[in-house]
Amino acid sequence: MPSRTQAIVLAAGRSSRFNTSATKLSFTICGQEMIRYPLNLLKSLEIKTHVVVGYQQETVRAILAKHSYTTECVEQTIQKGTGHALLCTQAYWTEDTLLVLNGDTPLLTQEQIKNLLEQHRAASAAISLIVGRTHDPSVTGYGRVIQEGKHVAIVEHRDFTGDLQRSYLLNAGVYAIDRSFLEEAIPQLKVHSHGEMYITDLVEIASGQQKTVSLVEVPFEYARGINTLKELHAAERFIRLECINALMAKGVRFIDPESVIIDSDVTIGPNTIIGFGVHLRQGTQIGENVTIDSFSILDNAVVGNSVTVHSHSVISHASIHHSAKVGPFARIHQQSILHSESVVGNFVEVSKTSLGSKSKAKHLTYLGQSQIGKQANIGAGTITCNYNGVTKHTTTIEDGAFIGSNSALLAPVTIGSEAIVAAGSVITESVPAQALAIARQRQTTKLEYASLIKSKHGQPAASSKLKIKLATQGS
Ligand code: UD1
Ligand code: CA
Repeated sequence: MPSRTQAIVLAAGRSSRFNTSATKLSFTICGQEMIRYPLNLLKSLEIKTHVVVGYQQETVRAILAKHSYTTECVEQTIQKGTGHALLCTQAYWTEDTLLVLNGDTPLLTQEQIKNLLEQHRAASAAISLIVGRTHDPSVTGYGRVIQEGKHVAIVEHRDFTGDLQRSYLLNAGVYAIDRSFLEEAIPQLKVHSHGEMYITDLVEIASGQQKTVSLVEVPFEYARGINTLKELHAAERFIRLECINALMAKGVRFIDPESVIIDSDVTIGPNTIIGFGVHLRQGTQIGENVTIDSFSILDNAVVGNSVTVHSHSVISHASIHHSAKVGPFARIHQQSILHSESVVGNFVEVSKTSLGSKSKAKHLTYLGQSQIGKQANIGAGTITCNYNGVTKHTTTIEDGAFIGSNSALLAPVTIGSEAIVAAGSVITESVPAQALAIARQRQTTKLEYASLIKSKHGQPAASSKLKIKLATQGS
């Protein structure tokens, strides 16, 4: 992109139509805060950018810092409209062309911005703007482009008195402006009745001076500004479906695309199947030949090839290596790693744990803060007790160990390789390799006692043997 363009993003407004406490620019659309969309676009075009901040500027600045944008912020202390926001940046104007974008336009593409700048230059325009046409009379809140002969003006929705049913070109809020024209025109912006200066009045000023105003039309969907939560939803659906369509084109099968929630940075390999109602959130990377079954939620999950995630599983900040199996109803989180061909079955929670290759924990288990080797077998109901109420400790289970069902392993403790822990044990001391540890009360069996107890509670004794016994006791 030529170096003679600089960008200004207007992000100081009050978001009043959102009716939420937080600025709309901090709301995420497919996992990214709204303000990041124009900023990413400008970054990809390598255009130096200033952001006008004001209302809840700490929030906007924090988003910029968190994602390491190098853009400079300019403060608009009182929100007196888009024209005034641009005026606040005057001391920073250095380039020939100013590209000004509303902060609430997340749908525009790199191509559309490039087109705007190219047409602006080709037409030697004073001001060029992106416009979209809609035939839907329920679309409100936009400035309408009114052309009479050579005269062009933008009339805001609230000031428009014409036929609302007629289709018009609507202003998208993205402008390329010639700097010398802007310097001369900005003092002419009037203050409207409700105390706001409109950037859009620059169009009428240019037109009145017989300067060129150039309109660059894009499909209305892309020109959408986000003023309400309903529009946020429409934008998110649009971006989400674009992501899904791109993935389908690469060989990813979505059982019901409309039911899937997906963030824009999610990657998925070919031949993978995404089931009904799956959520795939930020940072998730899924390999090839994977099945993610219905209602599973993956957040910052890295999933290798040929993994199966059965329904209703939640995987967050965790890695699942190739050919592992998870769920149904499993929870893998807190940097856990399931190595290749391992199995984590139903109602199993895995937290801060590495489960070695081909190891299995198939039912009703909690594995927390554990290092588990290869081919270990963790029986149903096993609990690693990593927290004593004050401090947390690690459980180590070495290769090939067998943990019998319903065992509690009190960390810190190590179960050596190929060792066996008998079912129902409470293990408080480490078990050497190859050893058998039994840590439970030895069983006592009292013959015929069941009937004896019943008869004491008034129920008839079942067996004749017992009747004799009872008779003998009585004599
Ligand atoms: C604006 C345009 C309208 C256009 C629409 C496209 C004006 C007067 N109207 O209306 O023609 O169709 O965008 O979506 O420009 N902002 C500031 N400081 C302020 C006021 C706003 O920085 O004092 C910022 C907001 O944070 C927002 C952007 O400017 O990012 C646009 O403001 P908004 O109030 O949303 O303008 P619209 O009413 O949508
Ligand atoms: Ca807007």
